[in-house]
Amino acid sequence: MKVLVIGSGGREHALVWALSQDPDVEQVVAAPGNPGIAALQPAYDGQTVVCRPVDISDQDAVVALATEVGCDLVVVGPEAPLVAGLADPLRAAGIAVFGPSGEAAQIEGSKAFAKDVMAAASVPTGRAYVCTTPEQAAEAIDAFGPPYVVKDDALAAGKGVVVTSDREEALAHAAGCEQVLIEEFLDGPEVSLFAITDGVTVLPMQPAQDFKRLADNDEGPNTGGMGAYTPLPWAPEKLVEQITEKVLQPTVDEMRRRGTPFSGLLYAGLALTSRGLRVIEFNCRFGDPETQALLPLLKTPLGGLLYAAATGRLEDQVPLNWSMGASVAVVVAAKKYPVNPRSGDVITGIEQAEAGGVRVFHAGTAVEDGELVTAGGRVLAVTATGKNLDEARQRAYAGVGQILIKGSQHRTDIALKASRGEIELAQ
Ligand code: AMP
Ligand code: GLY
Repeated sequence: MKVLVIGSGGREHALVWALSQDPDVEQVVAAPGNPGIAALQPAYDGQTVVCRPVDISDQDAVVALATEVGCDLVVVGPEAPLVAGLADPLRAAGIAVFGPSGEAAQIEGSKAFAKDVMAAASVPTGRAYVCTTPEQAAEAIDAFGPPYVVKDDALAAGKGVVVTSDREEALAHAAGCEQVLIEEFLDGPEVSLFAITDGVTVLPMQPAQDFKRLADNDEGPNTGGMGAYTPLPWAPEKLVEQITEKVLQPTVDEMRRRGTPFSGLLYAGLALTSRGLRVIEFNCRFGDPETQALLPLLKTPLGGLLYAAATGRLEDQVPLNWSMGASVAVVVAAKKYPVNPRSGDVITGIEQAEAGGVRVFHAGTAVEDGELVTAGGRVLAVTATGKNLDEARQRAYAGVGQILIKGSQHRTDIALKASRGEIELAQ
């Protein structure tokens, strides 16, 4: 099978790597890919892994590339091209796509749309008001009281949400958005659960946890994600079954009922609150950096799995097969991320880190004058597996310690509370 992966981040690096581990995948083309993907070694003789330049916002160019490559499957990584509807012209050209249609991707593209789907499907989520004027926003903010949760309705790369007890800050964020959602505050630990779906059948992965804030102890601004781990030793029994039954399957069924079936990866971000589980958000693609933590433990060959979803044959797929043990991904971000990440800083130490057993997925990197340099906010995700979270964390942080980038930032507490058994479920 020949697979074309669209995107250039850490998630795409992890996807390309995992696809290359599938013996049925003879070629992976990443467009545009990144220096980490370009350096990937094929898993067996005769397999090829290559990068091709493309502007992923140019749909005609992507269709032309997919046709030229003669790929059997296109996997679209990031949300922006999905929400812009890239899957549609690819499917119209007769190419199997892992990723939802433009209409179905609205589940991530519009928070108001997602709330509407959840209401119709009786999926538990926070109560929210959709506001279009500062007066409406102020009314909703005062109706809920602090802490205030204010969400830009549109796509904002994980940075459109403000959670604050400062009323002025909440009002100011609302005023800066065209349409805004004011939501009740949800307490309790957060879970990311990804499901592979063909629009009918739902195949959940194992749960992960993501760290959205920049600094240790969940301080600092929200980011795209500073690290992740899987599985969750503290999760209640039957959590995956419960989320599948109450959230994922009803959502997939409702999207089909509306005539906009969702196929691809449905990402549920949830809070386990004192009143039960609540959806915080849906995303329409693999999460970043959860994917970098999850895929090294997935034993089911990824190419066959994504192809089955893309062609409506997930029903025949047996449940996913996972390695024992745990996996931890720690993001190394550029100086001044997320406000104004600095580019052009030299990156060293990746080879030494990998020699110690970690896998380093590239996100914001580039090669300039033969040197690897920073070229984005989140630069690398350093991932390690181990027999438990403690071992995986220690290995991942040993890897992080070998990597040198001037002014870089990382959290030191990814998976720490979970490995110490300190995560408490709300009562
Ligand atoms: P989102 O972009 O919707 O995932 O929100 C980003 C982060 O903001 C989430 O991962 C949560 O940590 C936080 N957040 C979002 N909505 C709520 C809420 N209703 N209550 C508490 N925290 C929230
Ligand atoms: N891990 C958060 C995201 O992918 O949106």
